[in-house]
Amino acid sequence: MSIAIAIDGPAGAGKSTISKAAAKRLGFIYIDTGALYRTVGLAASRAGVEPVEGKAVDSLLEKIKVELTFNEKGEQVVLLDGEDVSSLIRTPEASMMASKISAIPSVRAYLLDLQRDMAKTNNVIMDGRDIGTVVLPNAEIKIFLTAAPEARAKRRYDELVEKGMDVKYEDILSDVITRDYNDSHREIAPLKQADDAVLADTTEINLEQSIELIVNIIKERS
Ligand code: DC
Repeated sequence: MSIAIAIDGPAGAGKSTISKAAAKRLGFIYIDTGALYRTVGLAASRAGVEPVEGKAVDSLLEKIKVELTFNEKGEQVVLLDGEDVSSLIRTPEASMMASKISAIPSVRAYLLDLQRDMAKTNNVIMDGRDIGTVVLPNAEIKIFLTAAPEARAKRRYDELVEKGMDVKYEDILSDVITRDYNDSHREIAPLKQADDAVLADTTEINLEQSIELIVNIIKERS
């Protein structure tokens, strides 16, 4: 039987970096479900579809194919109609688009089986917003990973500056706050801690300490 670990939490809490490192240490496959929403968001912007137009999004979903694959290093690669869009979906615009499109019920339904199928056949650490509450409610271990908005914005700011992007901290903080609001106030599958999830707050600790924390939580419970 396969084992599933669900890691949920707000944008910029370090979920993907921490989950990826923990998966490597524990020999699990890491699945970043935000990439799927970002890919549907990219498809919508390419098609000129506003992410609030339910009907237009529904007909877009009938036309596109989103696939989750892995490269030779074991890293996740997302394909949109066969094209590797893994890097294209990482811009701040794509983040905002993903946040809006993820509130549409048909988008969530469209991506649900894809996520569940991955967990059926593999030992996975899956990160997202609703993994412990909706996608894998029977996950063996659930973690809610969070940090203060200012700390999350500062980390994202440093990352983007490192990549040579010209960004303002205030804009990033306001994006983080808007996304938190969107993600936790949408009607369907909002971001919230599952009753049986362990809370991990990384505001005061660095990346290495956060990885250690998560690996220890998993080891203690498995
Ligand atoms: O984790 P991320 O920042 O790449 O996610 C992008 C957007 O997708 C985020 O604003 C919320 C949404 N999302 C979601 O609704 N459910 C998930 N399981 C993962 C992401």
